[in-house]
Amino acid sequence: MNIYLRNIDPNDYVWIWECRNDEHTRMNSIHTDSISLEDHMSWMKSSSKNPNRKIMIGCYLEDNVGVIRFDIINEDTALISINLSPGHRGKGYSVPILKSLEDIIKQEYRKVKILQAVVKQGNIASIKAFIRANYVKVKEDATIITLEKYI
Ligand SMILES: CC(C)(COP(=O)(O)OP(=O)(O)OC[C@H]1O[C@@H](n2cnc3c(N)ncnc32)[C@H](O)[C@@H]1OP(=O)(O)O)[C@@H](O)C(=O)NCCC(=O)NCCS
Repeated sequence: MNIYLRNIDPNDYVWIWECRNDEHTRMNSIHTDSISLEDHMSWMKSSSKNPNRKIMIGCYLEDNVGVIRFDIINEDTALISINLSPGHRGKGYSVPILKSLEDIIKQEYRKVKILQAVVKQGNIASIKAFIRANYVKVKEDATIITLEKYI
């Protein structure tokens, strides 16, 4: 599948905000609140200066398909978050996007050895996508499932 990741620039910030505030996304997120454009813009600005966070856009042909992000949360672990735009879900794009990000981390962030995903219970598509990308469940409680992959 012809999926690739690209770096973002400020022209992408509003589209990323729209994806984040999509109702289905919020329902499946740990934080379900809607975010104001103002708060989002200041979060994007601070994120762009944060060396431990990287946000990229997954593309299929010329189309923006979704947003993928990682946060380095300690020396060897990166927390991965993926959010496809509503029109691009259920088409199998998530796994190639997760794999492309993994390649970038392997090449450019060599200290990172563990990829971690924290998924809300019941978010079947997300759990299946991470498992298909070879993450394994390491922890679970009533609300959250944690999956990890050693790279
Ligand atoms: C979760 C998400 C990343 C999955 O990506 P996707 O490309 O839509 O998923 P896929 O098409 O690869 O489907 C993954 C699997 O889930 C299944 N699936 C998809 N939607 C489903 C649904 N609504 N209910 C049950 N299963 C579903 C698919 O059949 C597929 O199963 P398979 O591996 O057995 O073939 C994407 O749907 C999304 O961005 N959702 C909104 C935000 C979100 O929940 N992000 C994750 C937060 S951790």
